[in-house]
Amino acid sequence: MDKFVVKGGVPLRGEIATGGAKNSALPALAATLLTDQPVNLQRIPRVRDVRTMQRLLVDIGASADVDGESVRIQVRVVRSPEAPYELVKTMRASSLVLGPLVARAGRARVSLPGGCAIGARPINLHLAGLEQLGAQIQQAHGYVEAVAPQGLRGATIRFERITVTGTEDLMMAAVLARGETVLQNAAREPEVTDLATLLGKMGAKIAGAGTSTIRIEGVEQLHGAEHSIIPDRIEAGTFLVAGAITAGDLTVTGCIPEHNAALINKLQAAGAEVTEVNTSTLRVRALTGLRSADVTTEEYPGFPTDLQAQYMALMTQAEGIAIINETIFENRFMHAQEMARMGANIRLEGHQAIVAGRKELTGAGVIASDLRASASLVLAALVARGETVIDRVYHIDRGYDKIEGKLAAVGAQIRRIE
Ligand code: EPU
Repeated sequence: MDKFVVKGGVPLRGEIATGGAKNSALPALAATLLTDQPVNLQRIPRVRDVRTMQRLLVDIGASADVDGESVRIQVRVVRSPEAPYELVKTMRASSLVLGPLVARAGRARVSLPGGCAIGARPINLHLAGLEQLGAQIQQAHGYVEAVAPQGLRGATIRFERITVTGTEDLMMAAVLARGETVLQNAAREPEVTDLATLLGKMGAKIAGAGTSTIRIEGVEQLHGAEHSIIPDRIEAGTFLVAGAITAGDLTVTGCIPEHNAALINKLQAAGAEVTEVNTSTLRVRALTGLRSADVTTEEYPGFPTDLQAQYMALMTQAEGIAIINETIFENRFMHAQEMARMGANIRLEGHQAIVAGRKELTGAGVIASDLRASASLVLAALVARGETVIDRVYHIDRGYDKIEGKLAAVGAQIRRIE
């Protein structure tokens, strides 16, 4: 298993580029199931979850041509409308094929995701929504089977709680349903809007994406399209924290500043200087010492749970007590114990982490437990005295495209060992 070896203490300086958003690429790839024509997707990040999704599509019947960050998918026929356990267990976003498969083929069989390092992560809201669209759902042998032999019909669906992939899954089911579907209490994440843009290019009729009420007028069929994925706000956010935590001067290019507004506010409250150089470039500097600022994770446009771990690393280097409140997932603090091994003072109380800073961190052997936790350990290692060895970096490869190369190019002393 690959490891990262990081020597801390170097301020990061220079330019670092943002890639395409993993969490936009995954639903976009799933959307290719909705038509028999080719869909060309650009700025698809070369990360492991994307490769897993491509494998899943090929198993289902797709042909996939990959050329760097461009991917051309064509699903002439759905050969096997199934997402097997072997793939779902490594990537729960596999459940994104459920909606499109029922809509296109009238049938889907998808393994139920099990537990996960960050919480329970059920898909009950996806299933309840599909039932409201007229699908019959059965569960047996660890799989959920959804059938709609007569096709789906539009309905008004109110999500009990906001779910990102749930909104995406049902949006993809509804585009081919008969009549109008209204999704209420829908997720407003930029990735949901990006998917709606792609579906629109494929001929779907969707209004209100980016707000909490999405209206979808079903159409007979969709056609091929070309689409470039939005920049990854979580990758850009991770780089902004890297600049601030190392007291560096980092310019993050190819991003959408507005998508990181909540993080930028917190960085500024913590004493970092963040400026919008132009519409796709942010510059972060931390010239004076950092101070603590509390944070609560929320659905977009609130502070993203996917940046909570990275922010915790930052708060270990800020003067004062910071309270970090995690409201989206019940168990997303696995990184706290690892940071404590590096010298951080973090107390966990239920959904809250209380971080007392500033504490000097020292290099240690640590283990990455999930994707964003691994990123936070890299950040902590960048300021730790001495050498940190981060084990199980396959987690980070799920969602970051060669993060060590990008960080090394701006001065980080980081290398991968096999
Ligand atoms: N939930 C339910 N029932 C459902 C669906 C969700 O109870 O049917 C609960 C979840 O357990 C959780 C909350 O609702 O407590 C929100 O979960 P959501 O469904 O929004 O999460 P997701 O769609 O599975 C996506 C991202 C995650 C990100 C979350 C929250 C993708 C592929 N994944 O997951 O990204 O943390 O939204 O913003 O878009 C990551 O990239 O590291 C990552 C975990």
